[in-house]
Amino acid sequence: MTKHSKLAIVTGANRGIGLEVTRQLAAQGWRIAACCRDINKGAAALRTIEQEGFDIELRKLDVTRTADCQALAKWLQSGEQQVHALVNNAGVLLDSQSDGSADPLKLEATLAMETFNINTLGALRMLQSLAPLLAPGARVVNVSSGMGQLASMGDGYLAYRMSKTALNALTKVMSSRLAQFSDGKIRVNAACPGWVRTDMGGEQAERDVSQGADTIVWLASSDEVTFTGGFYRDRKRIDW
Ligand SMILES: NC(=O)c1ccc[n+]([C@@H]2O[C@H](COP(=O)([O-])OP(=O)(O)OC[C@H]3O[C@@H](n4cnc5c(N)ncnc54)[C@H](OP(=O)(O)O)[C@@H]3O)[C@@H](O)[C@H]2O)c1
Repeated sequence: MTKHSKLAIVTGANRGIGLEVTRQLAAQGWRIAACCRDINKGAAALRTIEQEGFDIELRKLDVTRTADCQALAKWLQSGEQQVHALVNNAGVLLDSQSDGSADPLKLEATLAMETFNINTLGALRMLQSLAPLLAPGARVVNVSSGMGQLASMGDGYLAYRMSKTALNALTKVMSSRLAQFSDGKIRVNAACPGWVRTDMGGEQAERDVSQGADTIVWLASSDEVTFTGGFYRDRKRIDW
């Protein structure tokens, strides 16, 4: 990987919104460390988007494994590479595997814990490992969901909803903490991509991946983004 342009780390980069965020940032000239828990799936996916000039390095990383996150940090350190954007995209929606998707009274605690481990603690592990490597003015984008929005909280999908509400809390706390780092200009924001046609969102979803990735890429890369500690959809601030 060359050191000429800015570096973005994207988790869950092998399909869906993460793959599209990787594609859009690479098309803007960013170097990408595309993190995928299955290296073969990652390699196959990246072949579908790679174009001349794209600078994408595949890294094996499961966000539930602290050792994977620390190994990524070590690899970056050894190449004296700073991180200009961290996109915590990896996520799961497991509720439909149990009756709890419809009835929160039937949610299995183990399913909620697994969901938290990926959707919430995965982002925490990445931040803890990579915080010392964030460049001045770096961006952190936590890919959240309107399903975690307290202002419009609905019924069902309790594990997923709680994991994203907690991810929003993580966003607020880390925006304050990381403001003390470096030049005080590290931006930490959460994004809701809307309802997107991916394996998670399903075929009926309203948006394609390009629309789903838009606000995430904007938060990660646009000079317009001077704010921190907010929750955004369609490039506009929304209620928590
Ligand atoms: N689609 C929607 O409508 C929608 C709406 C709101 C928010 N979101 C959020 O957007 C993000 C991306 O969703 P998507 O729709 O693109 O989902 P997706 O198509 O199901 O892709 C999920 C990605 O996360 C990865 N992942 C899951 N567990 C992981 C782990 N332990 N370590 C590393 N990677 C892991 C998957 O890797 P594998 O291929 O190895 O499983 C895959 O790359 C998620 O955070 C989701 O909650 C999606």
